Amino acid sequence: MFNDLYQLTDKDIVLQKEIKHLKEKNNAYIIVHLYQRPEIQEVADFIGDSYQMALKAKESDAQIIIVAGVTFMAETVFILCPDKKVLIPEPLATCPMAEMLTAKQLIEFKAKYPNAVVVAYVNTSAEVKALVDVCCTSSNATKIINQIPQDKEILFVPDKNLGSYLQTISGRNIISWQGYCPTHNHVSVDEVNAIKDKHPQAKLLVHPECIKEVVDQADFIGSTSAIINYALNSEESDFIIGTEHGVLYPMMKNRNDKNFYLASEKLICPTMKSITLEKIIYCLENHNNQVTVEENIRKDAAKSLNQMIEWTQS
Ligand code: 13P
Ligand code: SF4
Repeated sequence: MFNDLYQLTDKDIVLQKEIKHLKEKNNAYIIVHLYQRPEIQEVADFIGDSYQMALKAKESDAQIIIVAGVTFMAETVFILCPDKKVLIPEPLATCPMAEMLTAKQLIEFKAKYPNAVVVAYVNTSAEVKALVDVCCTSSNATKIINQIPQDKEILFVPDKNLGSYLQTISGRNIISWQGYCPTHNHVSVDEVNAIKDKHPQAKLLVHPECIKEVVDQADFIGSTSAIINYALNSEESDFIIGTEHGVLYPMMKNRNDKNFYLASEKLICPTMKSITLEKIIYCLENHNNQVTVEENIRKDAAKSLNQMIEWTQS
């Protein structure tokens, strides 16, 4: 099922033409995450991982930015580009991991470690970002952690799996919040072993949101776009993919001579998949579902996001 390249339907083609027309009429720019459905990836002005999405809106001169991703991604765009109108086609497309830590819980957690540097994965609310020292994504997390002075304790929120991976890779003692991504966390070692037995020659590429026992077996660990780049540019031809199903589309489209096997059929993010072409059209026609953040929170959240960008680019 997962190894067939998606074929656009006639209906998709009609809807995509309508989106192109409305986009030009509205001077809108569509930013798409790599977990989106193939027919949505095809209407992107830009497609990338969560870090690339955060930066891209700033570069566009469009006044309307449509974010085809989950709500924290749209919030991040607004925090960095408050003069733009940021719209999300499905306002209920939240990230369950981001909802596993509230601002109140973070205040209590921080109070237990008053001297620690607090690092938040971008998969968090704006309120949480406003309370931390620096943000990170899976593509820059190691670089961020490595810039924290050695004598400082590190609190990492909200992903226990990314926190554990960072602890292993950096050798630092990282105190993690116990949140997780339901999609990645449920990939089991048994499933991975079963697919490895079937394709013993395949390289295992995983996202660090997977559990430690799965990450420990990987040949490569990285963000969504890093996994795609690794598979496309490697000399190898067979890959087991330990991240959400959406990344298969760009890989299969660009290298149909290679074989890509999803590590688990559970690797579907339901909220990412709740965005449809019809919802994008509705959003372009009605300018509904605008994403905003209260100015005091936005300013503080922008500090931790800008700190991430500065450290990533240093
Ligand atoms: P990336 O930063 O790799 O795009 O990951 C975002 C995400 O939500 C992974 O589940
Ligand atoms: Fe959140 Fe997981 Fe979906 Fe990524 S895949 S948006 S972390 S629920």
